[in-house]
Amino acid sequence: MNQDEQKKQAAHAALAYVEGGIIGVGTGSTVNHFIDALATIKGRIEGAVSSSEVSSARLKAHGIPVYDLNAVGDLALYVDGADESNRQLQLIKGGGGALTREKIVAGASARFVCIADETKLVELLGRFPLPVEVVPMARSFVARQLVRAGGTPVWREGFVTDNGNLILDVQGLEILEPVSLEQQINNIPGVVTVGIFALRPADVLILGTPQGPKTLMPE
Ligand code: 5RP
Repeated sequence: MNQDEQKKQAAHAALAYVEGGIIGVGTGSTVNHFIDALATIKGRIEGAVSSSEVSSARLKAHGIPVYDLNAVGDLALYVDGADESNRQLQLIKGGGGALTREKIVAGASARFVCIADETKLVELLGRFPLPVEVVPMARSFVARQLVRAGGTPVWREGFVTDNGNLILDVQGLEILEPVSLEQQINNIPGVVTVGIFALRPADVLILGTPQGPKTLMPE
């Protein structure tokens, strides 16, 4: 079973958590499978709040209404992928550049179900370059602070987020203390969002595997 089939399997397994109402929907290739699966039960939900323009377009193409978060208040469920997860279900996210809206919708949701292929489970976060969304004028300043924090930031050139900002991908970090590093990087002026999701980790991780979907809770 290839990686994409594992993603699809995890996405389909997440349907079991859908209880109606308005669903928080993330971004990425795994979430695309979830959106396609959600379309098969769209009569059972009111609609979605989306974490990106690309996911909104896919939801709308399936005839699923997309709501502004401001119009709907808190959500019962958020489903999104990840670039890495440790066994506490602390995540690195933002490979698709949607980390800010993802963190907002995750924060507004009672339950965060993360869906991924089994390669995303790691013992230590940080091999995947850590995305950091920055205000454009702060790019070099923030990069210097990230070097002081022990990382090697690389500007994702040519990429602009849905919020009009830039992304620095920070290589070479061994993230031993995800909560404190999330707070430290969040505190650098000019940082909009760091792609560590540890203050608000996932509540459930569904991994696609050759043996079938595997559900993990935080250890
Ligand atoms: C986008 C994300 C994605 O969830 C993450 O990059 C995983 O993507 P994929 O499902 O394509 O592997 O954080 O900003």
